[in-house]
Amino acid sequence: MRMRGRRLLPIAIALIVIIILCISYMATPPTSPPHPLRESRDEFLVHLPPTSDEDTQPTTAQHNLLNLTSFDYLLASDVCRRAERELLAILIVTSYAGHDALRAAHRQAIAQSKLAEMGLQRVFLLAALPAREHFISQAQLVSEQARFGDLLQGNFIEDYRNLSYKHAMGLRWASGECQQRAKFIIKMDDDIIYDIFHLRRYLESLELSQPALTSSSTLLAGFVLDAKPPIRLQANKWFVTRQEYAHALYPAYLSGWLYITNVPTAARLVAEAERVPIFWIDDTWLTGIVRTRLGIPLQRHNNWYSANAEFLDCCVRDLKSHGYECEYFAGPNGGDAKLLVEFLHNVEKCYFDECIKRPPGKSLKQTCLATVRSPAPDHGVAHIQPLRLR
Ligand SMILES: *[C@@H]1O[C@H](CO)[C@@H](O)[C@H](O)[C@H]1NC(C)=O
Ligand SMILES: *[C@@H]1O[C@H](CO)[C@@H](O)[C@H](O)[C@H]1NC(C)=O
Repeated sequence: MRMRGRRLLPIAIALIVIIILCISYMATPPTSPPHPLRESRDEFLVHLPPTSDEDTQPTTAQHNLLNLTSFDYLLASDVCRRAERELLAILIVTSYAGHDALRAAHRQAIAQSKLAEMGLQRVFLLAALPAREHFISQAQLVSEQARFGDLLQGNFIEDYRNLSYKHAMGLRWASGECQQRAKFIIKMDDDIIYDIFHLRRYLESLELSQPALTSSSTLLAGFVLDAKPPIRLQANKWFVTRQEYAHALYPAYLSGWLYITNVPTAARLVAEAERVPIFWIDDTWLTGIVRTRLGIPLQRHNNWYSANAEFLDCCVRDLKSHGYECEYFAGPNGGDAKLLVEFLHNVEKCYFDECIKRPPGKSLKQTCLATVRSPAPDHGVAHIQPLRLR
């Protein structure tokens, strides 16, 4: 007996050590220092729908989102909480859950680690995969989250008619999670090319030149679309009935392509949005209808944007061959996911003063063969076909 006992003791000790290790491993708080392969920690980012098993499941606070009473996150991100120092901005990128290749292009164009060095972080705003989606599964999204931790997925179904929920979810998350942690919020779509170096420089200069605006609850800057009549043609993707929107004109709003706001402003917008009937054109609703009720003015930066992907393509060409600065800082990718990668990889040198101004007579309009399109990203009557690829 004694001999057996002696032999069992080391085994028992080993077992106890293993159990303790398992428990401490599972209890690692999500605030532990970042590790390049965060797979284990990111398990915590997967919030399963609440089960009856409430003792073992950390209770995720149930909250409504607008009129969705059973709203919850399918995937949650802690990129803001994890940031080691105050962020200049959090980028919230509206992305169709099935656009994994587009998200990969964003990460290839500028990696999270590089964003972090610039004082930035990024999350992609997703919704639940519709039943008709056969190209990607929730399991794939879970493993994408385990690798990158940058997905924020609501449990409502992906649909362009549900974009107002997604937009409000993003603003609410950013204003809550990034409160005291990020000075600015940049909202954009996943099919947009954007010059992050320009945006960073602009935000830094805004902090210095207009500190009052920077910290105010009235910061909304981007592509301003002035009062436009709603599209009443049934065949159009942006067709709006009189029941959905009764007035003859939309208030001025910011294009959801890309705009800048901050935590106090986003918090006010989402709080007010709870009191206003939901309108499904998300940017018109939040930065137009809801904003107007709060009397927040819009900062106009329309000259930053190009509705022509060809212009941005020509910019890449000219950056490569002549080092010419690009005249534009944002615009749609025209269906080319790789354009963002090319653009960001080539435009960076301009911020090390390695670029030159376009010589007279060599403007993009004169040298770039672009098909004529609507100059503006609007949902009003001005355009012939939808510009947004959603
Ligand atoms: C929007 O999401 C809700 C909640 O998941 C869903 O019931 C509805 O079908 C979605 N709308 C569309 C147009 O798919
Ligand atoms: C929420 O409001 C929208 C717009 O008024 C409506 O179409 C939708 O059915 C509502 N959804 C729920 C779950 O009440």
